[in-house]
Amino acid sequence: MQARLAKRVKLLHLNDFSEYYNILVNDKTGHELEYLCSLISTNVTSFFRESKQWEFWKNNLSTMMEKKNNKLRIWSAACSTGEEPYSIAMFLEENAPNSDIKILATDVSPRVLKEASGGVYSEKAVGSLGNIYLNTYFHKVHHNENSVYTIDEKIKRHIVFRGFNLVTGNYDIFKEKKFDIIFCRNVMIYFDKPTQAALVQKFYNMLQPDGYLFIGSSEALTDIKTGFKSRSASIYQKV
Ligand SMILES: C[S@@+](CC[C@H](N)C(=O)[O-])C[C@H]1O[C@@H](n2cnc3c(N)ncnc32)[C@H](O)[C@@H]1O
Repeated sequence: MQARLAKRVKLLHLNDFSEYYNILVNDKTGHELEYLCSLISTNVTSFFRESKQWEFWKNNLSTMMEKKNNKLRIWSAACSTGEEPYSIAMFLEENAPNSDIKILATDVSPRVLKEASGGVYSEKAVGSLGNIYLNTYFHKVHHNENSVYTIDEKIKRHIVFRGFNLVTGNYDIFKEKKFDIIFCRNVMIYFDKPTQAALVQKFYNMLQPDGYLFIGSSEALTDIKTGFKSRSASIYQKV
């Protein structure tokens, strides 16, 4: 965090962090605070990240769809630039076509949400996707010297993007909502244990019976008391 902030201090020609602090608290527009959030958060993501989880889901999808009457409600709770929710939507289009799918995709950073809802990706970002996915769910557009790939409307229509802070957000807005699956991957690692425990309990309450929680492979619920049962690496089920 120090290294990232030091760059900003240098760029603004300030002498030290306290001068930066003064700029932050006096900026009534909130733009510098927003910039700070983007600066200190890690947004690394990719399409179909954590390949083992997708295998598990594929193996269990038909049973799940039967139980849920082909209707799934999914929350991608730290969606970054959108690769995670778009992967979910493509996976379901491919493996459970004509199902009733709604995906809520949230993140604390307005910058990544803007990118996510735009749905435009570089050649590098889509590099790991096979031609079948690229040809079916993207449009290749020539942009200056390069090509970019835009997500097709048949994928986008399943997803709603919103701002939400997992730690300080007001969970009352979810009162009416129950999810079948919550993806909260590679973000809890940044929170302390009590915050993680409180969050996991909220997820538990927000899931349907038998609902799944997918977390990142470097995260685990081992020290957290929960009603979840481990089903596979980094996949938990509400029992
Ligand atoms: C490393 S990315 C993970 C993206 C995706 N879930 C994945 O696994 O590829 C972490 C994301 O968490 C978001 N984030 C950090 N703190 C958050 C918070 N308190 N509430 C919501 N999102 C947060 C960041 O903005 C970032 O986009």
